[in-house]
Amino acid sequence: MTGAPRTVDWDGDAIALIDQTRLPGELVIVRVTDVDSLIDAIQRLVVRGAPAIGVAGAFGVALAARAAAGGGAPATDAVAQLRAARPTAVNLARQVDRAAARLGDGFDAVLAEACAIRDEEIAASHAMGERGADLVAQLIPSHAARVMTICNTGGLATVERGTALAVVQTLHERGALAEALPLETRPLLQGARLTTWELERMGAPYRLVVDAAGPALLASGAADVVLTGADRVAANGDVANKIGTFALALGAQHAGVPFVVVAPESTVDAATYSGSDVVIEERDEGEVLAFGATPVAADGARAANPAFDVTPASLITALVTESRVVRLDRGEQL
Ligand code: MRU
Repeated sequence: MTGAPRTVDWDGDAIALIDQTRLPGELVIVRVTDVDSLIDAIQRLVVRGAPAIGVAGAFGVALAARAAAGGGAPATDAVAQLRAARPTAVNLARQVDRAAARLGDGFDAVLAEACAIRDEEIAASHAMGERGADLVAQLIPSHAARVMTICNTGGLATVERGTALAVVQTLHERGALAEALPLETRPLLQGARLTTWELERMGAPYRLVVDAAGPALLASGAADVVLTGADRVAANGDVANKIGTFALALGAQHAGVPFVVVAPESTVDAATYSGSDVVIEERDEGEVLAFGATPVAADGARAANPAFDVTPASLITALVTESRVVRLDRGEQL
């Protein structure tokens, strides 16, 4: 996300967020000064992506500490609501808990912890980009890579640069990207709205594809590797990520295409044994029944809207974090 403001940051006395519901049309920064507004922003996906909501949540604890010091409700109440705002990405509860551990030391200490979390995520994004691009070069040594990806895993999903899309950006900067193939990512179009916006800013070559085309394009040989992010990596290597990831992994296995997950260590959750232990967020059915403001189903239609799915470790070639590459296809363990 070259030249854009940070996705989430602390700005004097408020959290500053890029409003991702307004992209790609407008780049608008919203300032959030209380925990209820932050919970609303997280649930409406004003800020979204596992590392980004983790950082936002940590800054939210600072808002709670400030309100409590000013005579408001105990910070612990707000913290409990904040960590539960979205259930699937482990980053939110983890980073809220980390910041909340400093509540006894006062607002300044909580804010310093949140800033440290932000800075660690920025450093992790840069390191993941390098490690991931090195791995792609090993997997595809003969030519520039054609990379399929899903959802938005760029700077908009972190603080800057991203996870899987950081690898795409690093490949592009190295002259090693032939083409990115981002999936639209129904129903909220994070791929169409946000990933294309970031790819445009990078000047990277890409073509947007509809979700259903992903496995078929892999079968036809259109991509050399699939790169995705993660919302939670379980101890056994299963990965929860945006709905549609599992279908891509099945398609990649069928086509013999490497399937690589790129996520920071803050997304790896040793306390979740396997994918079946992950709570999958079920979102409002209205997101499926309408396309923006336009209804797309019959009056009275019902919808299921799971926001994430689980890809078993057996379908994953490798997990790339800021500090390691785990070759799950070679039996390596987390
Ligand atoms: O519902 P979202 O947009 O928050 O979902 C985001 C994803 O599924 C990403 O792939 C994931 O958070 C990893 S991106 C760093």
